[in-house]
Order: sequence, then C-alpha cells, then structure tokens
Amino acid sequence: MGHVLSHVRKPDEVVKQPVVEFRNVKKTYNVGQPNAFTAISNVSFVVENLPDKGELVAILGPSGCGKSTILRLIAGLDPQHPPTEGEVLVLGEQIVGPGADRGMVFQDYTSFDHRTVLENVTFGLECQGVSRKTREELGRIWIQRVGLDVTSDQHKYPHELSGGMRQRVAIARTLILRPRIILMDEPFGALDPSTRMNMQDLLVSLWREVEATVFFITHSIEEAVYLGDRIYLLTNSPGTIFEEIEVDPPDRPARVMQREASFQDTVYYIRDTITVMEERGGKSASE
Ligand SMILES: Nc1ncnc2c1ncn2[C@@H]1O[C@H](COP(=O)(O)OP(=O)(O)OP(=O)(O)O)[C@@H](O)[C@H]1O
Ligand SMILES: [Mg+2]
Repeated sequence: MGHVLSHVRKPDEVVKQPVVEFRNVKKTYNVGQPNAFTAISNVSFVVENLPDKGELVAILGPSGCGKSTILRLIAGLDPQHPPTEGEVLVLGEQIVGPGADRGMVFQDYTSFDHRTVLENVTFGLECQGVSRKTREELGRIWIQRVGLDVTSDQHKYPHELSGGMRQRVAIARTLILRPRIILMDEPFGALDPSTRMNMQDLLVSLWREVEATVFFITHSIEEAVYLGDRIYLLTNSPGTIFEEIEVDPPDRPARVMQREASFQDTVYYIRDTITVMEERGGKSASE
C-alpha cells in the first residue's frame, strides 16, 4: 500500500532543490468579465529535483478539476500562463513562457499531417537549427527506441499510423529534445487497454533513460498507481490538491504489478477516498 502523506508538502518543507514549485496558485479565466471562472485556487506543492532518477508524478481528479490547467501552467502556455495569483517556479525560477527544458505530450495526436514520422520526430531539432544529417540520425535512433520500425515507418505520414503508433511518434518527438520536465496530458487515454499497458511499460523504460521529472495526467487510478512515484489527488470547484501519496516505483511490468495485493490496496484506497470526497461535495475526508 502506498504511503499517504499527512498533508500535501509545501515548497518550504523539502530538503532537496525543488524542480517544480507551486506557491498558492490561483487561476481565474476571463478575469473581470461576466464569465470569469476560477479553475484552481490555493494550489501549493513541491516536487524535488532528483537529477539521476527523476520522478513520475501522477495527477488524478474528476473532469474539470483543473488538471490540464496545472500542467499548462508548468508548460508556460497561454491562456493558463501566467497564474492569476501565486507563483509557479521551475528550478527556482519563475516561468516566463514555454522553454526547451519542458516538453509536452497531449492526449490527441498532435503530429503534423504533412510531415513524415521522421520529420515529425525531428521537428524540434530542426527548429533548433540542428543539421539534417545529425537530426535524421538521432531521429532514427528515437524511432527505434519508441518501438517503431525505422525501415517501414520512418517515411509514413500520420494518417497511415494507428493511435498507438502516433503516440509513440509524439513521445519520440518530445524525448529527442531531452527535456528536464515531461508534461503528459492523458497521453494514453484514447488507446485500447492492451496497447495502453505496452505504452506504460515503454514510458517507464524511456523515462529511466532520460532521468526527467514526468507529470502525468490520467483518469485511470490503476495507471496512476502503476506509473507514479507520487500521486496528487485533486478535488473540484475550484480545483485544489487534497492528498499526496507516495507509491512504489514501476519496477516490474504493468501486467505483473497490477495483480499484487499492495497495488490493489492502493487502488481501492484511492477509489474510496475519491468516493468519500464526492459525497462530501468536493471536500476531503480530513476537512
Ligand atoms: N481557456 C479557458 N477559458 C475558460 N475556462 C477554462 C479554460 N480552460 C479551462 N477552463 C475551465 O477550467 C476548468 C478546469 O479545466 P481543465 O481543463 O484544467 O480541467 P481538467 O481537470 O483537465 O478536465 P478534464 O479531465 O476533463 O480534461 C473547467 O471548468 C474548464 O471549463
Ligand atoms: Mg484536461
């Protein structure tokens, strides 16, 4: 069973240097207009910098509770950035916008339709001015690493790929840039269960290699417990983090780990906590 922290850790409560910090963050959309809406408020948390390891932080919560808002604030994307109140820091610096230290993988397949697999995977390197020869060599390495076939797949266009293959392209396109932080917004949400498990294991193996900190949004409790080192549970209206849980790292394949009793205990604990929270109208059991 995972370790439920007595409270969500605040930025001043950790010893190591933080990689991402939220300090009392509030995001109100359409400020000053009749349709102003506060999506998240009082969001404070800290994820430590573990350079030789990285951490996978899973974010779970009901639809509309502000998960994507939090992720896009870290990415520095409009209109989530800047926060209405509070501070978002990456490695101690306030975010001013998107940056090469942060890479994002979305749920919907965001490849460029008119570019081949190789051209999609190497797009970021092309933007950075890397020579064609170097980027294509690196591109082929990453095509292989994400489990695609270099010979048969590199010249295909996105419409010739399955959903799982397209997400492999999206992952390769992000990881080839070696971001310090990887932001994934329900990346496997549209995949069938079997492909999803394969993608989870692929992510685990690649993430060990790149040693990045990964933020991973999902609606699947099993996926969060399997992939996460740390899980944030969010509640609605406006969204806030109400529980932080440390869980065992995914050191065994998903199919094996998901059968274990301690894994199931954590899943049931989270399911029950979310049910209680929903019955209390969005308030956690401790409030
Ligand atoms: N650009 C925007 N303008 C106005 N309101 C927005 C905007 N983006 C999000 N919201 C609102 O903020 C709230 C949180 O949205 P967000 O997309 O962060 O939720 P989410 O937890 O990712 O939901 P889901 O699980 O459905 O993806 C929602 O009520 C949404 O309608
Ligand atoms: Mg979302």
